[in-house]
Amino acid sequence: MVLDVLPPGPRLPVAVQTAAWIFRPWDFMERCAARYGDTFTLRLAGERPWVMVSHPDVVKEVFTGPRELLHAGQANRILRPFVGANSVLLLDGDAHMEQRRLLMPPFRGSHLTSYTDTMTAVAQSAIAGWPRGEPIRLHPLMQSLTLEIILRVVFGLNEGARLDHLRAELVRTLAASAGVAGQMLLVLGPRKVRAALIRKLFRNVDRLLYAEIDERRRCGDLEERSDVLSVLLRTRHEDGRPMSNVEIRDELMTLLLAGHDTTATALAWMVERLVRHPDDQARLVEEIRAGDHQFRDAVIKETLRLRPVLSLVARRLKAPLEIGGVELPAGVNVVPSIYLTHRRPDLYPNPEQFRPQRFLEHNPGANTWIPFGGGVRRCLGAAFAEHEMRIVLGTLFGSCTVAPISQRAEPMKRRGITHVPRRGATVTLH
Ligand code: HEM
Repeated sequence: MVLDVLPPGPRLPVAVQTAAWIFRPWDFMERCAARYGDTFTLRLAGERPWVMVSHPDVVKEVFTGPRELLHAGQANRILRPFVGANSVLLLDGDAHMEQRRLLMPPFRGSHLTSYTDTMTAVAQSAIAGWPRGEPIRLHPLMQSLTLEIILRVVFGLNEGARLDHLRAELVRTLAASAGVAGQMLLVLGPRKVRAALIRKLFRNVDRLLYAEIDERRRCGDLEERSDVLSVLLRTRHEDGRPMSNVEIRDELMTLLLAGHDTTATALAWMVERLVRHPDDQARLVEEIRAGDHQFRDAVIKETLRLRPVLSLVARRLKAPLEIGGVELPAGVNVVPSIYLTHRRPDLYPNPEQFRPQRFLEHNPGANTWIPFGGGVRRCLGAAFAEHEMRIVLGTLFGSCTVAPISQRAEPMKRRGITHVPRRGATVTLH
């Protein structure tokens, strides 16, 4: 591969760039953007070069470019033992589009509104049980809440032994795979060993999921049910085939892994930001009491702008392609930086400032607000997540006063591929 045709970037040794990326990714991106401009190349250990872009016109080229040349599935391969080979996250080309077509309907329109009551009931019951008058870390509480919403709305489980059993297995399995020892083995161990370990870890969860899928196929009210699993059981491939049990299991795990922690982290950041902006919090509370949600939506947008849960998305070039006026060779990764795009002063004046009003004054232009990525890979659950976040924020700020334990903002901490509040969004509820 001809590397010197790539846009300029830091000349630091790969090991130093990798360390900078692991420990201070935001500073590193900002320093590179300040020095090399909108487009630059990073070289990280074990990775093909990353050509990072942040100008909305170039981001648009990546999101709307030919999908047969801009692949994303390969970059997600590490997830395969968790989500299985049929996952929409791992596929590219026609196979990817076919899975998206099957998965999209329950995440749109009237389906979404049919989830309102369940989401509200889960949020009310969870928040009512959170301790009052003492410091609490909201992030893990939000994780339990969003997991419960996935179990009820996506898996369609009702209260009872089956829900309790699957929840307990999932919590145990996710904790084991996220723990330090788990991460070391799962990320660094030899590929075959990793895959075998993960399959072992997920054996009980899989058993319960397959039992649930079988049971649901046989249940008498499948046609009336609106949960995602039931909708998937009714959908058909283009050739008329139903989705197989393995396909459905893989997509359920995909939705769980893509949708639970991301939404919990976004919610934790919303609270972390709001408690340090009492005027915004007061305006939000007033609006919730009046039954509106314009300002709430602006809070959601502004938090995802300033604290995007994921700082980038990536596409691997399958053949040479001109991006941003530069002919890039096959094999490189083109990486729209969500973080840098959201902090451009030409798009967002005083970008460091948390100011939800900016989204009431102007609608963001195309490809300037991209926390959910874009194009044919745009987050499938974006509208679902926004609906859920609106409900959780409304329930929390409509029922409690939320106070910070310190005025100091919580710094961003990297956790896997997400960015979380370092102190877990610690607050006191009254
Ligand atoms: C605030 C919460 C969320 C954020 C910030 C988020 C962000 C993202 C991002 C950045 C991508 C990659 C897009 C790209 O490559 O262009 C993505 C993909 C995806 N997300 Fe989300 N997500 C969230 C919630 C959810 C939820 C609730 C679900 C489902 C229940 C979900 C399901 C998915 C799926 C299935 C994909 C893969 C789409 C594809 O490859 O075609 N996400 N998400």
